[in-house]
This record gives sequence, C-alpha cells and structure tokens, in this order.
Amino acid sequence: MSIDINSAWEELKNRVQNCQKCKLCEQRHNTVFGEGPVENCKVMIIGEGPGEEEDLSGRPFIGPAGQLLTKILEQGGGIPRSSVYIANIVKCRPPDNRNPEQEEMLACSEYIEAQLLLLRPKIVVAMGNISAQWLLKSKQGITKLRGQWLDWRGIKLFPMFHPSYLLRNASRAKGSPKDLTWQDIKALKLKIDEIN
Ligand code: URA
Ligand code: URA
Repeated sequence: MSIDINSAWEELKNRVQNCQKCKLCEQRHNTVFGEGPVENCKVMIIGEGPGEEEDLSGRPFIGPAGQLLTKILEQGGGIPRSSVYIANIVKCRPPDNRNPEQEEMLACSEYIEAQLLLLRPKIVVAMGNISAQWLLKSKQGITKLRGQWLDWRGIKLFPMFHPSYLLRNASRAKGSPKDLTWQDIKALKLKIDEIN
C-alpha cells in the first residue's frame, strides 16, 4: 500500500471517530470503523451496523452474529476471518438494534464508499437486506438477491443472508437459509480461488 493510501486510511478513521453527522453519535460508546487487511484486500464483508458488543468494543461482528459469521467463513468456506476486511454500512450502533434509518445511512455512506474506493477489494459480500439493498440501490429482498454475482462500480458484489437471520432460522433442511448460506460460502471460496 502506498504511503498516500495509508495516510488517507488513518484520516478516514479519524473522521469516523469524531463524526457527528447523525443522531447515532449521541448514544454510541465507540464508532466501529472495521477491521482486516488493508493491503491487497481481496474480500470485504459489509454488514448493517454495530450491535451491543460491537459498540462496546469498537470491533465489527464480534457478538453472536459475528461468531456465526466467523464459523461460516472458516468452517463452511475455509476462509480465515483474518483474511477479509469486515465493516458495516453505519459505523454507530442504532439503539435497540433497530434498522438504521435512511438518513443515517445517507449520512454515513461517504465512509463506506471511501473504504471501498481505498481498499478496492476484488469481491464485496453484502450481508443481509440493509447492506445489499443500500449498495445495489435495489428494493429486491435478500432471498432473491443472495447467491448471485452482481456489480458495485466494477467490483463483484455477492449478497448473502445476514448471520443474525440465520440465528433466528435454525433449520438446516434443504433450501433453508442455512443450507443456502452453506452453498453461498462455498461459491465465494471458489471465486476467491479463481481470482488468485
Ligand atoms: N451485525 C452487523 O450487521 N454488523 C456487526 O458488526 C454486528 C452485527
Ligand atoms: N432480513 C435481513 O435483513 N437479512 C437477511 O439475511 C434476511 C432477512
């Protein structure tokens, strides 16, 4: 990574830390910028927004949904969590884990866009309705969108079910969200190997 990108990354992180562009800043304990490799980033996973544990720690996807995400990546796909960059559409926790509002996502969107443009991952995985619909500017549901190779400004975009949805839908029957996610993570791994 060039020095320029490195300093741009640090500056962006600082701007997020001090951000007061929407009301989510009022109740946050920490902003959650994201974590993972910045140099040579192949895959970026984009969730919705921090939950309680993430807000308290400042790290993305470390609560129950995050632990399931790690398991899906590592056990389902053979993809080490540490090999992917993990971030969210909004950087501050929406109270009571409600969905982020349109104006909150709009206020925050410059940050995820800057992260995408600086990292230039080969693949973006959009987790769940909020993330997929925001990035694609689509009203289609995740059940329709998941498992397809789509496009975000020239970057491959692959929507998947959100792990918190899988926590609420425990069935592993054929065609269940978990079963489909198992297929999707394998398709993701194949694509990663293909572009290597
Ligand atoms: N859910 C998300 O969408 N992101 C997190 O970081 C944690 C839970
Ligand atoms: N609703 C969501 O927001 N995400 C899913 O993955 C499924 C339903």
